[in-house]
Amino acid sequence: MDGMEKTIWIIANWKSNKSIAEALDWVTAVGPNIPTSDHLKVVVCPSFSALSEVKKAITVGNFPLLVGAQDLSPYEEGAYTGEEAAENLNQFVSLAILGHSERRENFGETDEMVTKKVAQAIQNNVTPLMCVQGAEAEVPEGCRLVAYEPVFAIGNGNADTPENANQATKALKESNGSDLKVLYGGSVDAGNVASFIKQPDISGVLIGKASLSAQEFTKICQIVSESK
Ligand code: PGA
Repeated sequence: MDGMEKTIWIIANWKSNKSIAEALDWVTAVGPNIPTSDHLKVVVCPSFSALSEVKKAITVGNFPLLVGAQDLSPYEEGAYTGEEAAENLNQFVSLAILGHSERRENFGETDEMVTKKVAQAIQNNVTPLMCVQGAEAEVPEGCRLVAYEPVFAIGNGNADTPENANQATKALKESNGSDLKVLYGGSVDAGNVASFIKQPDISGVLIGKASLSAQEFTKICQIVSESK
């Protein structure tokens, strides 16, 4: 890209997939092959059950990989059965995906809940990555990283066009501040990733299905690092 090199985020969202053994196989295969660059931030978001082991394997291997969660509690720690509080999750994670459309659709998550989750993340030094489904979404105070993820493009090979995604990104930055970093998510794979990260306003990608394969994800990281 022209001018100052921008930092690109590549975020793997494993959703509700992978045993600990499968997660560790992935880390062992991907970790040593991630291009090292100050301008590349690669994050893996396993399910809660694999967080601890994934974090350990990355630390031992000294891989340039950050760990994220796919959700966190809207409350502090306490009597909230089944919830994972940010103040405990931060032992493993530096980022959390919040407000994903699958959580809104399947678990009744509302804007109000997402706003509370963002606040918990910030208070506990976890970077909130808020998913927004359209350009008109309101971004809660303090959240400076969002993923534009149109629902029609998720999990079906039907990605938005890079031009549309850039338009939505631009609109989000215009209404929430030019320092907002916006990623694109929805059917990103090795075949289309370069076209998204080449867009002037897009700061990276959030990848579901294609991130499950170590081989495909490694390829994506290499393509991004070469096309920047
Ligand atoms: P997908 O998922 O890459 O499988 O479309 C992206 C996401 O839901 O974050």
